[in-house]
Amino acid sequence: MSKVVVTGKIPSGALTRLRAEHDVLAWEDSTPISREELLKRVRGADAIVSLLTEKIDDELLAAAGVQLGSVSNVAVGYNNIDVPACKARSVLVTNTPGVLTEATADIAMSLILMVTRRLAEGERVIRAQQPWQWGMFYMLGSSIQGRQLGIVGMGQIGVAVARRARAFGMTIAYTKRTPLDAATHKELDAKHVELDELLATSDVVSLHCPYSPETHHFMNATQLAKMKSSAYLVNTARGPVVDEAALADALQRNVIAGAGLDVFEKEPVVHEGLLGLDNAVLIPHLGSATVETRAAMADLAATNALAILNGKTAPNLVG
Ligand code: DGY
Repeated sequence: MSKVVVTGKIPSGALTRLRAEHDVLAWEDSTPISREELLKRVRGADAIVSLLTEKIDDELLAAAGVQLGSVSNVAVGYNNIDVPACKARSVLVTNTPGVLTEATADIAMSLILMVTRRLAEGERVIRAQQPWQWGMFYMLGSSIQGRQLGIVGMGQIGVAVARRARAFGMTIAYTKRTPLDAATHKELDAKHVELDELLATSDVVSLHCPYSPETHHFMNATQLAKMKSSAYLVNTARGPVVDEAALADALQRNVIAGAGLDVFEKEPVVHEGLLGLDNAVLIPHLGSATVETRAAMADLAATNALAILNGKTAPNLVG
């Protein structure tokens, strides 16, 4: 039996599968484990199943010891893991692509609708019991039909968002190193464009690129200024892809019309400049937050960890 450390509470099905084969030390509290406790627990671990709230860096790998063979993240994004440090110590890293595509695309589409139709703002009026009445010019938003959605990073989630947006009557432009395969390109009737063109011509820009040192503050004041003043920014990727201070300033000065954010630079802290803005829709990292999706993510992470412990090739190796 190998020692498997699970760094946070995960759905029971995945835990049962891990426990059936290995000695599992799982943190089962809903609040994240402290760094100190985690450093103690990983000592002697052969595999770690990690959540994105835990930083897997060289210090933690050293604390685990040379027998550590893998880190399986219960997330598609793995910016909480120092992949080069894992590589240097011959520790394999896996993630959970695919299983959260539809749930995350639902949230991106929801944010597009919420911000263009001022839904959160309207809900706040009612909950605050402020006076309101139907009016010809009351709380008007923008229609998305016939408008262009610009997708930055056309991976699986980007394509799923594009499909939804097409059903709502939007047209699609996207950036991607290599164009989409011919069938998907045709299905979406999508335009493959350079970033500057996408920013200048899109009515909604939706971010779907992974976070890395290269994409840190990718949407900064300069890039925001390239967008139309009537356009909206949506981020369901990772918070630090956007310079939040620059975004708050752009929203305050109406450089762009609005933003819908599921992720934040310093989660769970949100830049205070965003908090009072009616043109910012702010939701707490809910992209993959459905019962079904979280069970599937944990299950896939368990499959990856078990494959490596059994000397097989894991389905979702990264790096
Ligand atoms: C992921 O898997 O990267 C998501 O952000 C988790 O919700």
